[in-house]
Amino acid sequence: MDCAIVDMVIVKYIKLRGLGKRQRIPNLRRTKMEENKIYNKDCLEFMKTLSDNHFDLIITDPPYGIGVAKKGNVGGDNLGKAKDYGECKWDSEIPSEEIFKEMFRVSKNQIIFGGNYFVEYLKNSPCWIVWDKDNTGNFADCELVWTSFNTAVRKFKWRWNGMLQEKMNWKEKRFHPTQKPVPLMRWIIENYSAKEDKIFDPFAGSGSTLVACKQEGRNFVGCEINKEYCDIINKRLSQETLFD
Ligand SMILES: C[S@@+](CC[C@H](N)C(=O)[O-])C[C@H]1O[C@@H](n2cnc3c(N)ncnc32)[C@H](O)[C@@H]1O
Repeated sequence: MDCAIVDMVIVKYIKLRGLGKRQRIPNLRRTKMEENKIYNKDCLEFMKTLSDNHFDLIITDPPYGIGVAKKGNVGGDNLGKAKDYGECKWDSEIPSEEIFKEMFRVSKNQIIFGGNYFVEYLKNSPCWIVWDKDNTGNFADCELVWTSFNTAVRKFKWRWNGMLQEKMNWKEKRFHPTQKPVPLMRWIIENYSAKEDKIFDPFAGSGSTLVACKQEGRNFVGCEINKEYCDIINKRLSQETLFD
């Protein structure tokens, strides 16, 4: 609900009940939204407090439900030993239909990684983004990113192959088993948003979307349910240098 509407409801309630100044005002849910910040919250609960179209754009990478890193090891291949991120359970299932409905309600446009895992919740779209990871290991060669835009399919190539990265002399630190490269997120932001847009990532992970927003000068908000990842995000956001 819009803040102005909440205010009107509170005033009406006070008048109707004849409440004095010292009496308790009912606890109507309302998020006092600070921007350029990560919220350590369940994104569904968070979104329920927002008005329609609050954000211009959602860019997000929800759990694909494929049980990545069940035993903690991700990315092992003939190029080296898999990195151990510790066991994680958040990828046991895809987000509920209610979460998708809320994402579409609170934002004007959406860019959703792993769209091929969520087709039951997504409309037909002419505009998918293909991220070519230049992979040779156990994982997919590309990732498919669904968008609500009406433009043509585009491809972005950025090597992200176990220990190998596009720029070996400028490697990004890995904090999360499904971390996305910041240059990929920057390319998306540059091509699919305007300077004044407000961007939301409800499944922030290690915060690559938010770091890219900061670097591209966009206002952003993120939600991440795991406190340890939130600490990493805050650290990444406060750093000048994000590379090894
Ligand atoms: C696929 S990862 C995102 C990785 C991110 N793109 C990155 O670059 O690091 C999905 C994240 O969503 C978080 N998550 C799962 N369910 C959530 C929920 N209901 N609300 C907020 N975060 C959630 C998980 O803890 C996980 O870190």
